[in-house]
Amino acid sequence: MSYKIVVTGGAGFIGSHLVRSFVNKYPHYTIVNLDKLTYAGNLENLKDIEDKENYQFVRGDIADAAFVNSLFESQKPDAVIHLAAESHVDRSILNPGDFINTNVVGTLNLLNASRNLWNGSEGKHLFYHVSTDEVYGSLGKEGYFTEKTSYDPRSPYSASKAASDHLVRAFFHTYGMPVVISNCSNNYGPYQFPEKLIPLMIHNIVNQKPLPVYGQGAQTRDWLWVLDHVSAIDLIFHKGTTGETYNIGGSNEWQNINLVHKMCSIMDRKLQKPYGDSAKLITFVKDRAGHDMRYAIDASKIKNELGWVPSIQFDEGLEKTIDWYLANEEWLEHVTTGAYQNYYEQQYIAR
Ligand code: NAD
Ligand code: TYD
Repeated sequence: MSYKIVVTGGAGFIGSHLVRSFVNKYPHYTIVNLDKLTYAGNLENLKDIEDKENYQFVRGDIADAAFVNSLFESQKPDAVIHLAAESHVDRSILNPGDFINTNVVGTLNLLNASRNLWNGSEGKHLFYHVSTDEVYGSLGKEGYFTEKTSYDPRSPYSASKAASDHLVRAFFHTYGMPVVISNCSNNYGPYQFPEKLIPLMIHNIVNQKPLPVYGQGAQTRDWLWVLDHVSAIDLIFHKGTTGETYNIGGSNEWQNINLVHKMCSIMDRKLQKPYGDSAKLITFVKDRAGHDMRYAIDASKIKNELGWVPSIQFDEGLEKTIDWYLANEEWLEHVTTGAYQNYYEQQYIAR
């Protein structure tokens, strides 16, 4: 019998890259993609693997305990890689309740269902919880987040992810559940929903729309190529130590305003516009409430213990990302309609 992994949130940005990688690389695994298909979940992301024999899609809500229990009873997964989440900070400021339902209640439901299924049973089980560096709060100019940094979440998004991390650890300590957690910095790459900084800027430059930079653009993020996050998850899933946490980051810090300028100059070149043309679209808008100043990861544990190394430099990854969005305008058009438009108006037009 093949080893079965439920991947939650597999139709989203990181989840779709992870599902594709596991389906292609591990034909002896069956990957069950459990996703609610919220505004952020798009099965178009997985068109190329949807007919593979070791792949199944199940639509469902992890916040629905009865559904999760019956799915686990029927599918009997050996392992879970849990990515499903409400993931956008600005949405969490507008509507924290969705984040508690999915990120906290949903995680608890998956833990309960896994515990019921695996309790006393043989086999190699693992509950892998994918989390964020935002649980550690906000850094000043100095220092890095390590696995020992105290939690200090400051947005409803990061508070809900912190709560889910605590629940996962509580299940390890209280019930002996085999768990592993990773906390990663900001990801970028193809298939990211264009509400996040990098795809939003690409989309707006193409459409000659203002580039909304929050505050003065002084905040700093540590950007990682999404497939390097996937390779880290793969390593931790197969070689990580149960009960441990691993930080993942790109050692690639950029102040928002510098990153937006860098993107503008790449886009000028790609769109054959005069240098400086795209930067004219930069518009400073009201700052995000409680905006965390700086995130930066110390990834030495995963590098030293598991030998993880990111595969590409930022310049190359950013070029590839921009090329992908320019070549996939149809994808962008599909995701920038409907629910996204309502949110977009609330977020930017009402300011
Ligand atoms: P995303 O928003 O692109 O995708 C989330 C997916 O979860 C979507 O497919 C959505 O349909 C699904 N989903 C949402 N609510 C659900 C529910 N109630 N039931 C079932 N499915 C549901 O997110 P992402 O950027 O791919 O992030 C994936 C995970 O990685 C999240 O847990 C996030 O916290 C974490 N993470 C993200 C980043 C980043 O930079 N994007 C960095 C570190 C960690
Ligand atoms: P984002 O991609 O939302 O990721 P996160 O908030 O999880 O780090 O935002 C990255 C940074 O870019 C963050 O400091 C907020 C800023 N930002 C803007 O300045 N303008 C925007 O329109 C967006 C979406 C983000």
